[in-house]
Amino acid sequence: MPQPQTLSHALNLARGVLAPHSDTAAIDAQTLLAHLTGRSRAWVLAHPEALLDESQTVRLHQALQRLARGEPLPYVLGQWEFFGRSFVVTPAVLIPRPETELLVEAALDWLRAHPGSRRVVDVGTGSGCIAVSLAAEVDEVQIVAIDQSAAALEVARRNAQRHGVTRRLRWIQADLLAPFAGPWDVVCANLPYIPSAQLARLPVARFEPRLALDGGPDGLHLVRRLLRQARVQIASPGALFLEIGAGQGPLAAQTARRLFPEAYVEVRPDLAGHPRLLCLFLT
Ligand SMILES: C[S@@+](CC[C@H](N)C(=O)[O-])C[C@H]1O[C@@H](n2cnc3c(N)ncnc32)[C@H](O)[C@@H]1O
Repeated sequence: MPQPQTLSHALNLARGVLAPHSDTAAIDAQTLLAHLTGRSRAWVLAHPEALLDESQTVRLHQALQRLARGEPLPYVLGQWEFFGRSFVVTPAVLIPRPETELLVEAALDWLRAHPGSRRVVDVGTGSGCIAVSLAAEVDEVQIVAIDQSAAALEVARRNAQRHGVTRRLRWIQADLLAPFAGPWDVVCANLPYIPSAQLARLPVARFEPRLALDGGPDGLHLVRRLLRQARVQIASPGALFLEIGAGQGPLAAQTARRLFPEAYVEVRPDLAGHPRLLCLFLT
C-alpha cells in the first residue's frame, strides 16, 4: 500500500478501500481522516495539501486494514454520531442508525407536550443512544434502560458518563420488561427485528451482535412479547414508540390495536418513506 503524503492522497486511498463495503465511501473517508487528524470534515476537505504525520499515517493504515475486511467504520473509530452527540461503540452493541433518531424525536415531542410524565423505559438499550439522548434533552426525566447483554450495558454506562446524565438513568440487565410492574409514561424500544433466516445472508450480521439483530422466525417475536408486557405497565396518558422493520408495519400495528383497543396507533415512515416507527398513544 503506498504511503499517503497528503490528505488528498489519504482520502483517495480510504475511499477506494471503503467503496466495496459502503454506499457512502467518500463521506466515510472524510470522517476517518477527520478522526485521525482531530479536525472537522470541513477542515479535511479544505486542506487537501496538509501532510499526515508519522503516527497518523500508521493509524490510517491500521484502520484501512480493518475496513478492507469489511469491519464497519464506527467500530474502527470506536465512536459514532447519533442525534448530534458522539457515542462510544464497541462490537458489543449495535451501531446507532439515523432511523432511530425518528424514535427519539417522537418521544421528545410527547414528553415536551406532557410535562407531568417523566417515567421512561428504554428496552434493548444497546449503546444507550436512545436513553442518553432523551436524558440529555429533557430535564427531570427518569429513565430505566434495560438490556439482556451486560457488555452492552457497560457501553451504555460509558455513554451516560460521557454526556453527563448518569443521575437520570438506571441500568438493568433483564429480559424485556419482565422484572417490572410499571407504570411507565413512555416505553421506547428498538428491539431486534430481523427474521432469523435472513440473518445469515446479511453483511450486518458479520460484525454486529446477533442478540441485537435476531427477531425470531418472522422478526416480530420480541415486539409481540413487549407489547403484551406493556399492556399492563403503560400509564394513561402514556406512549409507546417502537422501531420496526420496513415490511412489518401492518402486522405490528394490527397486534398493537388488538392488545390496546382504546389506543391511537399509527406507523410513521422514515426519511426514505418506509414505515419504521410504531407509535401508540393512550390518553
Ligand atoms: C437493535 S439493538 C438496539 C440498540 C439501541 N437501542 C439502538 O437503537 O441502537 C437491540 C438491543 O436489544 C437487546 N436485547 C435483545 N433481546 C433482548 C431481551 N429479550 N431483553 C432485553 N434486551 C434485549 C440487544 O442486546 C440489543 O442491545
